[in-house]
Order: sequence, then structure tokens, then C-alpha cells
Amino acid sequence: MAMVNDEYEKMLQAFALAKNFLRQQVELGFDEVYTQVKTKKPTAKKEDGPVPTGLSDFYHEIKNCKKCHLYRTRTNFVFGVGNPEANLMLIGEAPGKEEDLQGEPFVGAAGKLLDRMLAAINFSREDVFIANILKCRPPENRDPRPDEIETCKPYLLEQIKLIQPKIICALGRISAQVLLQTKSALGQLRGEFHDFNGIKFLVTYHPAALLRYQQYKRPAWEDLKLLRKEYDKLKILAG
Ligand code: URA
Repeated sequence: MAMVNDEYEKMLQAFALAKNFLRQQVELGFDEVYTQVKTKKPTAKKEDGPVPTGLSDFYHEIKNCKKCHLYRTRTNFVFGVGNPEANLMLIGEAPGKEEDLQGEPFVGAAGKLLDRMLAAINFSREDVFIANILKCRPPENRDPRPDEIETCKPYLLEQIKLIQPKIICALGRISAQVLLQTKSALGQLRGEFHDFNGIKFLVTYHPAALLRYQQYKRPAWEDLKLLRKEYDKLKILAG
């Protein structure tokens, strides 16, 4: 009898999880369900190159950076977070207030949405690496200035070198324009893969924009599905 109860409990938990997932999808404005449910961690492996071990050394090397004036107003240097061997890297713009306080990217309202977007395509934060163009918060959340970008960008480029992702997803216009070195609008850049030094590079809306503008949710969902599809191809390539 105890076993029947256990099974029943498990079934109820599974229903609760499914209900929660579907409710989140609806809240996100996604009216389809991504059905390829992940049952274990992604198995895609890097095919070549040494396993990067230098990311934490690099963090210690740069965490006290004073190369630009933003160090004067920051609470924390926001290096980035996630799997140092991730095949997928997400790159935002710059830390906001919460990120500055906690020292971690995308932990405020936009970050909570990002977590749900990732969950909608069966990723968690531990599967990916999340970083920003700038490591320190611009006061009042203003846009990063060109001189700040130029000073900070080499750090991100080094992170990309160390992590060696197979796919990069730029979150928002600034990240996309800085990395692709273009002035094209986000609407023109999204929806297809670009090349970034041999890495597949997708552009999508910044989660903060999705919080404000309902109309971006549908195209963002299309981008996320494209991202997942490309990621799944890595597994096939890796055998
Ligand atoms: N917006 C960003 O672009 N990055 C963060 O880390 C938080 C908000």
C-alpha cells in the first residue's frame, strides 16, 4: 500500500511540475510547448582543444579592474556565471542594480525572465555561461559608452576564448552590435545565425525588452527554438 502511495505522490508531483511549466509558458506568451524534454545533462562535448582551466585564473586576474571610471561607482565586478565549458554562451549588455549588488549577471527582473526563457527550451543556468559586454554597472543603467565598451570588450573576448562555446546568443541590440561590429537594427539581425570568429552567433531580444513589449515575445520564441535546434545538432555531430 505504501508503494502505491509513493507512486501516487510521484504522479502528483509530476502533474504539478507540468502545470507549473505550462503556466510559465503562457505567462511568457509562448503558445507552443517545446516537447523534447531533457532527462539528463547535455552530452555534447567539445571536439577539439584542451579543456579550459583558466577561467577562474582569469577572474582573479581582472576582478579588481580599474581600467575605466566605472570601478568608482560599482559595488561588484560582474565577471559572469555558469559552466566554464559551456557550448552555449549568452551575452547581455551590462550589470544593472541587482547584478551590481549581487555580483552575478541577470539576477534582477530581466534575469528571472531569462531563467524562464532558458527553462522553456530545457536549459538551466548551469548548462550555459552568462556574461555581459561590460563587467561594471553604468550609473543609472544608462547605455554603455563607446570608451567603456572598448576598454571592457577584451575581457569578454578572452572569456570566449577560454570557454570556446559553439554557439553565442546575444541578448539585445547593444551586445549584438558590439560583437558583430555593425549598426544594423536588432530586427534585421535576429532570426538567423551569423558568424563570430567561427562560432555560430544568434541575436535575440533582451529580456528587459520582452518585459516591456508584448509584441517581441513571439519572435523571441522563434529565436529560442532556433537556438535549441542548433544546439541539439551539436549532440548529433558529437555522436
Ligand atoms: N541586463 C543585462 O544586459 N545584463 C545583466 O546582467 C542584467 C541586465
